[in-house]
Amino acid sequence: MADLDIVIRNGTVATAADVMRCDVGIRDGRIVTLADKLPAGDREFDAGGKFVLPGGIDSHCHIEQLSSSGVVCADDFYSGSVSAAFGGTTTIIPFAAQHHGQSLREVVKNYHACADPKAVIDYAFHLIISDPDEQVMGQELPALIEDGYSSFKVYMTYDALRLDDHQMLQVFEVARRHGAMVMVHAENHDMIRWLTDRLLGGGYRQPKYHAVSHPRVGEGEATHRAICLAELVDVPMLIVHVSTGEAIDEIRRAQNRGLKIYGETCPQYLFLTAADLDLPGAEGAMMCCSPPPRDEAAHAAVWQGLANGTFQVFSSDHAPYRHDETGKLASGPDPSFHQIANGVPGIELRLPLLFSAGVQGGRIDLNQFVALTATNAAKLYGLYPRKGTIAVGSDADIAIWDPEKKFTVEYELLHDHVGYTPYTGQEIRGWPETVLSRGRVVIHDGTLQVERGSGAFLPCAKPEAAQPLGKLVPEMHPEKNFGAEL
Ligand code: URP
Ligand code: ZN
Ligand code: ZN
Repeated sequence: MADLDIVIRNGTVATAADVMRCDVGIRDGRIVTLADKLPAGDREFDAGGKFVLPGGIDSHCHIEQLSSSGVVCADDFYSGSVSAAFGGTTTIIPFAAQHHGQSLREVVKNYHACADPKAVIDYAFHLIISDPDEQVMGQELPALIEDGYSSFKVYMTYDALRLDDHQMLQVFEVARRHGAMVMVHAENHDMIRWLTDRLLGGGYRQPKYHAVSHPRVGEGEATHRAICLAELVDVPMLIVHVSTGEAIDEIRRAQNRGLKIYGETCPQYLFLTAADLDLPGAEGAMMCCSPPPRDEAAHAAVWQGLANGTFQVFSSDHAPYRHDETGKLASGPDPSFHQIANGVPGIELRLPLLFSAGVQGGRIDLNQFVALTATNAAKLYGLYPRKGTIAVGSDADIAIWDPEKKFTVEYELLHDHVGYTPYTGQEIRGWPETVLSRGRVVIHDGTLQVERGSGAFLPCAKPEAAQPLGKLVPEMHPEKNFGAEL
């Protein structure tokens, strides 16, 4: 028996920092050596002409989640994690979503009951806080942060989920006190409501008006406001699924001022436009997500934000709803735009789309690709260096990419349960043909090679970036506030 369980030989290994030609040796699920030439392992993969990359971390996906409108995701933790793995992702961080009146503890228990027996790759959870009552804020949330649920999302829109500014400040304060990462869905609720009323009043009800009802200016305003709230509390924050130059400018400005403000974007903001919602009948419902896809100018701004480091994270926001009565058409075959469940699928194509148009297209380099799709999420959410890199001691979560594999996207090639992909017709160049998770060969020869439930739960450490800074911002400093204890 060899000393090494697996050797990946002759590949070009890339991390967020380096690109190097070396072999990778794996034992007991971890990377134990990187060297020019390794001795034989029990199992060998020849990666000559291939890229050996950290498995992707999809840090924004909705799996087996009950939406606020009562519709359930099409993917459970089996199909969702299988689809992720086929696309080169080895860790997912979906949401454990609280609805009004629910105990957060109970919510987390329920999501574990769904995920633990089904996931084929490793997973952690972000929390969604929609009802920050005393029990949640004073007891449950602090205890859950200690238990490894160290990031949570809040919404500035959606009737059933949104928090007002005061509630956001309260949530931010708990995050600051206990060292958690806050994620914000930033859109101006009242602008959406006002536009929706006017559109419906005028008889404009097709899916394409979803895009009109979620204006760019509303995303920019809410992003600005969220940043102000985070600055007041002095807490790091990540704005999720950013779609538009207005919001990117706000994030960039905050970063330039030294604030710990982070940004995330997703494939739908690079590969879809509002015009894609303008399909016959209710077909445009398949493309409805929030914020909505915008236009070519927004694509250019998002690419620029990816290239210049304004964005740290590229996730899928996989929010899978079938185009039938269980999903997009739950309110009937001809829904008004505001009745359509929000979200598009993308968990399997996230990495290949960015690799093709980004790396092969010359817009970002391989190190940026790794940082955006794996390393930065691991750092921001307390999983680094166990996840998100190729280094001695890290989990052997690795995707071996054939950079020249070419095909045109069609739904039949994918493994989710959604029934369609918004990316039909996209040209792909580069595909992760072998995928390892903790040294287990999950995908090889186009087939799944592990059992349902073989993924493991990952408790997240308190992220480095979210550690309390030990001082309050000047406006809150007691001496400047006449001795007030804050
Ligand atoms: O449209 C979207 N993004 N739906 C999923 C829920 C969310 O806001 O992330
Ligand atoms: Zn959101
Ligand atoms: Zn989402």
